Amino acid sequence: MQYLIDTANIESIKKCCEFYPVTGVTTNPTIISKEHSSDFKNIIYTIREIIGPDKMLHVQTTASDAKQILAEAEAIRNLVGGRFFIKIPITAEGLKACALCKDKGIGVTMTAIFTQQQALIAANAGADFVAPYINRLDNIVSDGVHVVEEIVSMFKKNEVKTKILAASFKNVEQVHKVAMTGADAVTINPDLFEMLVYHPLTYYAIDDFCKDWETIYGDKTILDILGK
Ligand code: E4P
Repeated sequence: MQYLIDTANIESIKKCCEFYPVTGVTTNPTIISKEHSSDFKNIIYTIREIIGPDKMLHVQTTASDAKQILAEAEAIRNLVGGRFFIKIPITAEGLKACALCKDKGIGVTMTAIFTQQQALIAANAGADFVAPYINRLDNIVSDGVHVVEEIVSMFKKNEVKTKILAASFKNVEQVHKVAMTGADAVTINPDLFEMLVYHPLTYYAIDDFCKDWETIYGDKTILDILGK
């Protein structure tokens, strides 16, 4: 399962790309607005500069009719190039736009998916990815992980090629349970990367390794001893 970063914050993206095995970045209008900058063009261009052409960049349309969505997708693709996917919310116009974008060779992620059937219809419209929202389902006492489980199983049974990019996470348990479903990817905020990696026992173990080493070798490092 791949990990993408769900942010438009340039410093966070730089940090995550430096330390974590991320395969791309996802944004939506809310995420973009959190940067408090009116320079959308600069934000997405800079994200592409940081991540390079090979990592995925998923940018959401703000249009609601198919022709406008296609026009935005073409304009964004021309600006950012590389592995680009236009994120389109699942509506009738969105499905029409999905087919139009695919005809033009533009990658599509159908987003704001809350049900299994939305995912299957998006897949039939040619979407490369579907993005089911986990935490928003959990918030209404639904079960985000269960929805993903059924999408995974339905896609397998129907030999659907569309990939599942699960989104909207708030904790490690949600990410882990989605990983166990066999979903292809998750997009998570930078804080969640830290939470996924952190465990106090790891730090206790590292402390013990250091103390035990020092009892024999003092402050000498392996490089000191090997003379490098
Ligand atoms: C993906 O890019 C989604 O838009 C995003 O994960 C939604 O997350 P939220 O439910 O925390 O707003």
